[in-house]
Amino acid sequence: SAADKGTYPFYMLKEVDEQPVVMRKLVQEYLDTDGSPVIEPELLSRMQQADKLYVVGAGTSYHAGLIGARLFERLTGIPTQVFISSEFAYEQPIMSKKPFFIFLTQSGETADSREVLVNVKKQGWPTLTITNVPKSTLSREATFTLLLHAGPEIAVASTKAYTAQVALQAILAKGLGMAMRKQLAIDFDVKQQLGLVAVGMQAIVDSKDQLESVAARYLAQPRNAFYIGRGIDWSVALESALKLKEISYVQAEGFASGELKHGTIALIEDKTPVIGIITQDRTAGLTRSNLQEVVSRGASVLTIASKHLAQPDDTIVLPDVDELLTPLLSVVPAQLLAYYTSLGKGLDVDKPRNLAKSVTVQ
Ligand code: G6P
Repeated sequence: SAADKGTYPFYMLKEVDEQPVVMRKLVQEYLDTDGSPVIEPELLSRMQQADKLYVVGAGTSYHAGLIGARLFERLTGIPTQVFISSEFAYEQPIMSKKPFFIFLTQSGETADSREVLVNVKKQGWPTLTITNVPKSTLSREATFTLLLHAGPEIAVASTKAYTAQVALQAILAKGLGMAMRKQLAIDFDVKQQLGLVAVGMQAIVDSKDQLESVAARYLAQPRNAFYIGRGIDWSVALESALKLKEISYVQAEGFASGELKHGTIALIEDKTPVIGIITQDRTAGLTRSNLQEVVSRGASVLTIASKHLAQPDDTIVLPDVDELLTPLLSVVPAQLLAYYTSLGKGLDVDKPRNLAKSVTVQ
């Protein structure tokens, strides 16, 4: 069955490997032959009426929302803000006049996110749940649902649900932007790009041996590690750090690379791993100079860079895709670095201590 580990030692590795298939499945489910999103017109029209989109999630789903917000703003022009569900639940910000809520939740059962949904519904605002589990609580209770079609995700550390959430938000943003006649959305060929993403993901998962040796060399010993990036790369840095800390117990943090010098750089010691994510034309040079600053303080610098921005000594080179979709590729080596660090330490990759797949308490 789909929930069978087969020959894989851990579900996480299987789920990482499934990501190209999930991308193709989303294309098949949500895009027609000419590449236009197939999305319920009522959903698009309710979203179009909104003056602001509120994206809500916990953990990895929150991180997927950080990417989604950038996609919605870029492709639709609607201001979008992302919230951690357990924060929104207890301190609702001053609201815009016509909010529209998007709940991101792999399981559809997270109590913190449900708490927000229940409150939002009481206030009469329209809601969409993006989830991997049909008929889950948050799916049933929201006005609209979009399914991730990622297949069962068993490992506690979320991988394919994250990339599915990012890809589906890209499709939704494209559909909404097209409905609003936004030129950027019309020009954004999400179907072709997700095809390139699937091929690119495959190339990355096929280079496991290299990632295993990078993990053994740089991440097996240190107590801390940092992922850095700017803009969308920073959002991926947060998710990358979460992957590493939750399964390998390396204290990892994601930082906006420009912010390092305002404090965090004090933590850099000899051989502290600092992994730079470099996929955006506008910020590549700046992040590279931030990496120089940590090199000169003894850090072991690794890089995950898009091909057209790559330099000869980059650690991992990603195939080029549209700048809006680079998170779908840059996160994959980070998932695998976390996996191999955990595996190398002999830990239970799929069931890290103290964590649950679905958290139904607040
Ligand atoms: C738990 C899981 C995380 C997940 C988070 C949100 O903490 O361990 O992997 O990201 O819940 O879960 P959801 O099902 O709402 O996406």
